Amino acid sequence: MNFEEAKKLLADYGQEHLLAYYNELSVEEQADLLGQISMIDFSVLKLAEDKNHGVKKGKIEPLPGTYTLDMVAKEKDELEEIGLEAIRQCKVAAVLLAGGQGTRLGSDKPKGMYNIGLTKGVYIFEMIVRNLMQVVEKSGAWVPLLVMTSVKNHEDTTGFFKEHNYFGYNAEYVRFFIQDMAPSTDYNGKIYMEGKAKISMSPNGNGGWFSSLMRSGLLNEIKRMGVEWLNVFAVDNVLQKMADPVFVGGTIRSGYPSGAKVVGKAAPDEKVGVMCKEDGMPSIVEYYELTEEMMYQKNPDGTPAYHYGVILNYLFAIESLEKIANAKMPLHIVEKKIPYMDTDGNMVKPESPNGYKFETLILDMIHMMDNCFSFEVDRRKEFAPIKNPTGVDSVESARELLMENGIQL
Ligand code: UTP
Repeated sequence: MNFEEAKKLLADYGQEHLLAYYNELSVEEQADLLGQISMIDFSVLKLAEDKNHGVKKGKIEPLPGTYTLDMVAKEKDELEEIGLEAIRQCKVAAVLLAGGQGTRLGSDKPKGMYNIGLTKGVYIFEMIVRNLMQVVEKSGAWVPLLVMTSVKNHEDTTGFFKEHNYFGYNAEYVRFFIQDMAPSTDYNGKIYMEGKAKISMSPNGNGGWFSSLMRSGLLNEIKRMGVEWLNVFAVDNVLQKMADPVFVGGTIRSGYPSGAKVVGKAAPDEKVGVMCKEDGMPSIVEYYELTEEMMYQKNPDGTPAYHYGVILNYLFAIESLEKIANAKMPLHIVEKKIPYMDTDGNMVKPESPNGYKFETLILDMIHMMDNCFSFEVDRRKEFAPIKNPTGVDSVESARELLMENGIQL
């Protein structure tokens, strides 16, 4: 793309300011900036003007048939054996979503590098690997661990794993892949700059994981190893159990193409996405989309109708993911704190949200599956999310849960 082409394209989208410093740049910087402009999908910006932000929900109903803790307890051994067998045959890989920026936590480093220890170093990545190691020990087989990073944190993340000797995991089974980026804008839809030759871009949400995995070539590599199932999970739940043989066994036995670990909500208005049916298909309704009436709605047997919250731990059959690989996913607009260069050329690090990022979300993939096995887990044993430094879903609350589970900090 040359200067004239870029100018015309930007004019079409009201983004001419991206070239404001063009004449001050070196030839290399000019080429770099034009390269960045050519990579941007500007059509996403139209969404900033849409009050529904492009996401429209269908008819929401309760999803019956969650496999509850009582049911799991009765069949645990049988399901575990099915899962362990699949793991021994290398049919299951774990995908760690670690491309987020963790803006709420406020650390400049990848969230997984956060030290939650009190008397010694206990890093989030370390906890995740430690939990996966338990499955390795039980099954006697290494589970491939695929870590998604973003260009913003790739070097820090890979360097950290190396420096800590992969926390005792077999490095041959650990792979990294980088997710795609999308532009960040102010509230008027104008793209921010991070420098005179640098457009503000941010990771495009955790819904891009499968397309990024495909593009990286890693998908083919693991398929050649025999992998058929991908267990995808978030970096910020330090009690997360990956490749959990009981969950894997339950999903395989259900015959469904996907499974989701869920927890009973602590209160009807708890801020978690909830399993539901949308236009007859499995789906997840976000807490802010639940009406007061739905929050307190009951099933005919008196149990709460929208009770099972997702914890970002999903299992997908690769075969089903490939079928939806080219489908367009809903795009979400998220308000975030975005560092930017002001009109005087100074960098500003905002204290509160100052604009939009554009993201696709993994939870929307559940709605694209024919069915989803909703599998309840004990929240005090498997749900310790770290989103904030203090308060709800924080380092403090996660520490409390870790200690309750006998983990020394
Ligand atoms: P969050 O929705 O909590 O986002 O991510 P975040 O970016 O980590 O944190 P905030 O909102 O800025 O404070 C849930 C999971 O999805 C991953 C995160 O790393 C985390 O494991 N994620 C999120 C990605 O891998 N890529 C993204 O673009 C966004």
